Amino acid sequence: MSLVTLPADADFAEIREVIDRDGGIIISNFASEELMDQMNDAIDPYFDAVVASGVMDEYVRDGVNFFPKNNVHVYGTFGKAPEVASKLLETPVHKQIMDHYLNDEYKFVVGEDIHSHNSGWGLLLTNAMRVSPGSIPQQLHRDQVVHCVPQTPFSGYATQMGCLIAGSDSTEANGATRVVPGSHKWEWDRRPKPEESVPAAMKKGSALFWLGQTVHGSGQNHMEPGSPNSVRKLYGMFGVRDYLRQEENLFLASPWETVKDCSTYALTKLGYVKTASGVGMVDLGHPLRWFKPLAHYRQQAGYDDSDIPENVVNK
Ligand SMILES: [Fe+2]
Repeated sequence: MSLVTLPADADFAEIREVIDRDGGIIISNFASEELMDQMNDAIDPYFDAVVASGVMDEYVRDGVNFFPKNNVHVYGTFGKAPEVASKLLETPVHKQIMDHYLNDEYKFVVGEDIHSHNSGWGLLLTNAMRVSPGSIPQQLHRDQVVHCVPQTPFSGYATQMGCLIAGSDSTEANGATRVVPGSHKWEWDRRPKPEESVPAAMKKGSALFWLGQTVHGSGQNHMEPGSPNSVRKLYGMFGVRDYLRQEENLFLASPWETVKDCSTYALTKLGYVKTASGVGMVDLGHPLRWFKPLAHYRQQAGYDDSDIPENVVNK
């Protein structure tokens, strides 16, 4: 079995049918090779900087290093290449898929009346991945565990939609993302077997979309270092339900200049926090450590944030 590939201008009913059935799809011709070259040029310098920083060395989730060696992630890519990222974000099929899967009608009672409103979506994260020879397979997993929604019985509810756009050809040999078709309908505790997964092989400029509850993981890069197309690059443009956040925008309503002398406890409750599941991270780290102006000020002012884990979740 393999994942279905449809062109970006396919009838949306067809795209929906595939995602509903398999939990994911590859969209060919999502972006031009030229646009992906621009993205590669803009982000390439950051990969080596991330390796040098050591930020990924100890990124442990549930007791295992979640990002295997030679699988380097850069975060905040939208802000690092806003013009190119905007074009990727505004690709019509991206909007169609996000609008459909991250949008539902919610009914509720106010007084005597039944009202309803519809959710929308926003960006969950924007990142870049560089998977080099020697990279071992990532543990198969579901992304939407970060929001800890009830998982059983299966509800069909996706909190998020993954989207990875290929900056180079993705092949089974260079570690294409592996997806388990149909796993979005599994009970939460069914363990995936590696042989149940299939490689999301795709050309540069194609995009892989998958529901937040679909099991997947980065594949193994078997290629020789330095051989043609041995390094795989991908750019994430993930979507999330727009209400999975604090109701008040506390970063704007209580900007850090006005709260910088508050306790570590207060700052974490205001949102300067990375949860145990990883939500709220900056460059994978805790914002009190990695939001540089804040960290620098608090260090200079003698505040002790040493109880904040540096770059490890579930420590
Ligand atoms: Fe994932």
